Amino acid sequence: MCGIVGYTGINQALPILMDGLEKLEYRGYDSAGVYMNDGVEEDLVREVGRVKDLEAVVDKMEIKGTAGIAHTRWATHGKPTVNNAHPHKSNDGRYYLVHNGVIENFKELREEYLSDIEMHSDTDTEVAVQLIGKFAQEGFSTFDALRLMLSKLDENSAYGFLLVDSKEPDMMYVAKSKSPLLIGLSEDGNVVASDATAVLNVTNTFLELHDGDIAVVEKDKVTLFDKDGKQFEREPFILDIDPSQAEKGTYPFYMLKEIDEQAIVTRNLIEHYFIDGMPQIDQPIVDAIKYADRLYIVAAGTSYHAGLQGRRMFEELVGIPTEVHISSEFAYDMPLLSKKPFFIFLSQSGETADSREVLERVNKLGYKSLTIANVMNSTLTREATFSLPLLAGPEVSVASTKAFTSQIVVEMILASAIAGGQTELQDQLSKLAVDMQVVIDAKDKLKEIADKYLLNAKNAFYIGRGADADLTVEAALKLKEISYVQAEGFAAGELKHGTISLIEDGTPVFAIITNKSTAGLTRSNLMETEARGAKAFTIVTSDLAKSGDDIVIPAVENPLLSPLLAVIPTQLLAYYTSLGKGFDVDHPRNLAKSVTVQ
Ligand code: G6P
Repeated sequence: MCGIVGYTGINQALPILMDGLEKLEYRGYDSAGVYMNDGVEEDLVREVGRVKDLEAVVDKMEIKGTAGIAHTRWATHGKPTVNNAHPHKSNDGRYYLVHNGVIENFKELREEYLSDIEMHSDTDTEVAVQLIGKFAQEGFSTFDALRLMLSKLDENSAYGFLLVDSKEPDMMYVAKSKSPLLIGLSEDGNVVASDATAVLNVTNTFLELHDGDIAVVEKDKVTLFDKDGKQFEREPFILDIDPSQAEKGTYPFYMLKEIDEQAIVTRNLIEHYFIDGMPQIDQPIVDAIKYADRLYIVAAGTSYHAGLQGRRMFEELVGIPTEVHISSEFAYDMPLLSKKPFFIFLSQSGETADSREVLERVNKLGYKSLTIANVMNSTLTREATFSLPLLAGPEVSVASTKAFTSQIVVEMILASAIAGGQTELQDQLSKLAVDMQVVIDAKDKLKEIADKYLLNAKNAFYIGRGADADLTVEAALKLKEISYVQAEGFAAGELKHGTISLIEDGTPVFAIITNKSTAGLTRSNLMETEARGAKAFTIVTSDLAKSGDDIVIPAVENPLLSPLLAVIPTQLLAYYTSLGKGFDVDHPRNLAKSVTVQ
C-alpha cells in the first residue's frame, strides 16, 4: 500500500505535501517522510508513527522550497523504523525515491548488483534507488537509469515510483505498474499522488497512468513515455468531486460521518440508477450477465461480505447460480468454472491487489467481467469489461461502512434490472433510506450497550440465519478491526456444534433476526448461549420483535434488503466500543484502507 504525494510548481511545496499525506493516511500510517530541495539546501525528514508525528518535526524546521516528495508507509519489508521509512536515498546522496508496492525479486537484485553497496534499510525500495544510483554512476542518464532499474524487476513486482534527482530538484520522475499513481495538472504546478483525493485542493484535472507508463513531471510540463521509452500523449480528465466531501467537518471521526451518510448515499443511488421508477443498467451489461450460466462474485474484506448478500439477489431474482469468493483464495485455488462464467468484482477502492490478480487471470482466460467500485478510474474499473459506480463519496475511515451498504444497493439494482425491473424497488429503497436514518438516530442505545458490555469484553459473538448469518460475519469483522475485541460471526444453528464452548459468564452474544421463518430458531440458539452465561442481545425487525428485545429496527418489506438496516447497529456498536476504549477509530492498528499488496 503506502501513500505517495509529490509537487513541483511555483507555490511552497510543504503544505501541499503534508495535506496530501494526511489524506493518504488511509493507505498506511506506521511512518512517514518527506524530501525537499530548494536548489540550495535539501532536507530529508522521516518519522515513525502517524503523519502528525512527522508534521511535529517538520513544523520546527524552516523547510522551504517549491518542489518535494513525501510518503506514508504501511510496512511490508522491514519493521516501521526511521531507516525503513521513505524516501530512501542512493548512497551517493544523488537520488531520493518513494515507492508503493512490492519488488518481488529485491533480494536477488541486491545480491546480483549491489553486493558492494552498504544498505541502510530492510526495504525492497532501497534496492531500487541504489540500483538507479549505481546505473547513473556507470554513465546512464537519470531517465535511462530509472528505465534500466525497471527492466530488472520481475513481472510480479508492483510499483508506483516517484524519484527526484537532487541535481534537478524541481523535476520528478514517475513510474507505475499495478500500484495506483496519477498526475494532477494545475496552472501553478503539477502534483503526483496515489489517489486523487489527496490533492483535490490543488487540482481536479488529472492524467491517468497505466501500467508500464513513465512520466517526467516538471512545474509547467508533463511528458509521458511508454515502457519502451517512446513518448506519447494522453488527454487529461476532470474529476468531479467536491473536496469538502472528503473533510470530516464537525464529526470526531470519519467513521461516524460515513455511517451517517448511508441514507444520503442510498438516495443518490436511486437518483442515479432509476428512470421513471425503473432500474437502469446499460444493456451490454445486462446481456452479458443474462448470457452467463454462473456468476462469480470476487472480493476481499467487507466487499466480500457485501458479495455474500448479492448472491441471494442474483439467485432469487435472476435465477443464475452464483458463487462468492475471497479474491486472495480464488486467484490461486480457482474452482472448476462453468461453461459460460461471468465475473463481478466488488471493491470500494478498485485497487485491491488480491482482486486485481483475479481480474488479470480472468482477462487472460478471455471472460467478461464487471467491477462495481466506489473509486471510478481505478485499476479494477479500468481493466474489467464493464464498471458501475457505488457513488458513496470518499470513504476515508479504514473500517468500511457506507461502501458496504452501497454495494448491496447496487447489487440489488443490478439483479432487479436483469430480472426485467421490479417496479416496487425504487419505493422500497426510498423507504429504506428513511428507515436507515431512524436506525442511525437511535445511536445512544448502542453507545450504552457498547460502554456497558463491550469495553471490557474479551470476546463477542454475532449469530443469525440465512442473510443474517452472512451479515454476522461483517458485524464481527467491524468489531474486531477497530475495537480489537475478538469476535466471531456465526450461523446460529452451528454454534452448538463446537464453538459454544467459548461462551463464558458475561460473553456478549448478539442475535440478528430479520427473517420470519427462522426467527424462532435463532431465538432458541440465543437462549442456549444465555443458559451458559452469555449476555444475550437481540437486533430484530419490528414485525418480529417481542417485549424485552434490545434493538428494534424498522421492518423491511423486501427481505433481500434487510441487511441494509440490520448492519447499522453493528457498525455503531463497533464504533462506540473503539471510541470508548480510546482508540483512533479511523486508523486501527496494522490495517490500511486500500491494500495494494497480495
Ligand atoms: C482492506 C480494508 C477493508 C476492505 C478490503 C477490501 O482490507 O481495510 O475495509 O474491505 O481492503 O477493499 P476494497 O477496496 O477492495 O473493497
